[in-house]
Amino acid sequence: MAIELQQVKAIKDWRAYHAIRRHVLWELRGLDGYDDRHADEHKPAHIPLLLRKDGLAVGTVRLDLSNDRTGVVRLVAIRRDYQRQGLGRILMCEVEKLAAKHGLCRLELHAAPDAVPFYEKLGWAMIDADRSDPLLAKAIQSPAHDAGSGDGWRSPL
Ligand SMILES: CC(C)(COP(=O)(O)OP(=O)(O)OC[C@H]1O[C@@H](n2cnc3c(N)ncnc32)[C@H](O)[C@@H]1OP(=O)(O)O)[C@@H](O)C(=O)NCCC(=O)NCCS
Repeated sequence: MAIELQQVKAIKDWRAYHAIRRHVLWELRGLDGYDDRHADEHKPAHIPLLLRKDGLAVGTVRLDLSNDRTGVVRLVAIRRDYQRQGLGRILMCEVEKLAAKHGLCRLELHAAPDAVPFYEKLGWAMIDADRSDPLLAKAIQSPAHDAGSGDGWRSPL
């Protein structure tokens, strides 16, 4: 099984990225209004990522970098027919590695309530449960090397 987390750049990758997010995080939750032209997707400090299994796009996540060494993980989604097969765990592990490469020491995310047990299994700590999208955080082991740009980054998997 070949698994790769790659930065979204090509038009076909953007299409796959938005299709997974729109379906898993909006349509399956009965929501509409997904905006595939949202300006946040194209900010220089934001890294949109696509998880591929044997070449097929199966998951998405975005890592937002910041100057205070805290990053934010956004919109984690695994295609419904590939959920509960260990891919979400791999995706989060790879995001942590990427965050470490960028010199981050802490990650935060706002979770869907039904996904909180998933993050807690992966070592995330609850920071604020008193909100509709609970805030969780995780410390990152950053290597002592200089942060890279993220351009062309490929998972070592
Ligand atoms: C939540 C999600 C990203 C998890 O990815 P996944 O590939 O299904 O998860 P994995 O198979 O890697 O599961 C890792 C572990 O977490 C557990 N787990 C996964 N989803 C869970 C959930 N919703 N509740 C409780 N445990 C969960 C698995 O049982 C597994 O435990 P194990 O290692 O003890 O067997 C994925 O199911 C998904 O996209 N869900 C819909 C969208 C969503 O909720 N996204 C999160 C928004 S914050």
